[in-house]
Amino acid sequence: MTTAEIPRTVADYSKAAANAMEGGFDGVQIQANYLYLIPQFLNTATNVRTDEYGGSAENRARFLFEVLESVLKVVNSGLVGIKIAPMHEKGAFAANDETLPTIEYVIKRLNDYGLSHLLMMGASTDFSGSPIASLTGDGMFQHFRPIFRGPLIANVKMDRERGNRLIVDGLADLIAFGRPYISNPDLVERLATNAPLNNDIKSETIYGPGPEGYVDYPSNADSCQNTKEAGK
Ligand SMILES: Cc1cc2nc3c(=O)[nH]c(=O)nc-3n(C[C@H](O)[C@H](O)[C@H](O)COP(=O)(O)O)c2cc1C
Repeated sequence: MTTAEIPRTVADYSKAAANAMEGGFDGVQIQANYLYLIPQFLNTATNVRTDEYGGSAENRARFLFEVLESVLKVVNSGLVGIKIAPMHEKGAFAANDETLPTIEYVIKRLNDYGLSHLLMMGASTDFSGSPIASLTGDGMFQHFRPIFRGPLIANVKMDRERGNRLIVDGLADLIAFGRPYISNPDLVERLATNAPLNNDIKSETIYGPGPEGYVDYPSNADSCQNTKEAGK
């Protein structure tokens, strides 16, 4: 990315945020984790720049904060969230010695912006043997809860018991669900009534072009009815 492309891209983020608000969304969330553009700037393995966007954590985070500040020019900070967490993936996105200090640096600075939330993914891959092994399981939230002072949303592999425990233990303010929303059309009701969750998610129908995988997962009431009929 050339130095000239950076301000253009930063402006694209604020334009996208303004468009989203104009389109009726309640708020926007900046995507700063996974393998996308912002994490490519943050990561020492992918960011080999020698200008003010590369080198130190401050420089690697410059793009993120320029994006954030450009979005905050068009959307009130209480309606802007961010998704960020250290991750351990294959190849260039394997966690390295700079991964944790970089994200710590970013999250400390995020405290200054009064954002609506930080959405933090817990470990979605096996961290063992990596420099972020201590963030396995609840370790992610134990580590970052004392660092981030705003609303923290925990996600990945949540269920009723774990979500409630994280909130009671003060490790998260809110819990987000991803895959359980796909395989449980009545997720909220199941959580409210302590009904079992259907974790049998069919990966082959995710992003499918037809109705399969969108409208055909059974509700808890359907499952109970089927079990009753099978037992007759
Ligand atoms: C099919 C699929 C695609 C996903 N793609 C992305 C993605 O592009 N970017 C991202 O930040 N998270 C992505 N996620 C993660 C979800 O946004 C969310 O953080 C995660 O699914 C929560 O964990 P859970 O599914 O165990 O509840 C994806 C998840 C699934 C199941």
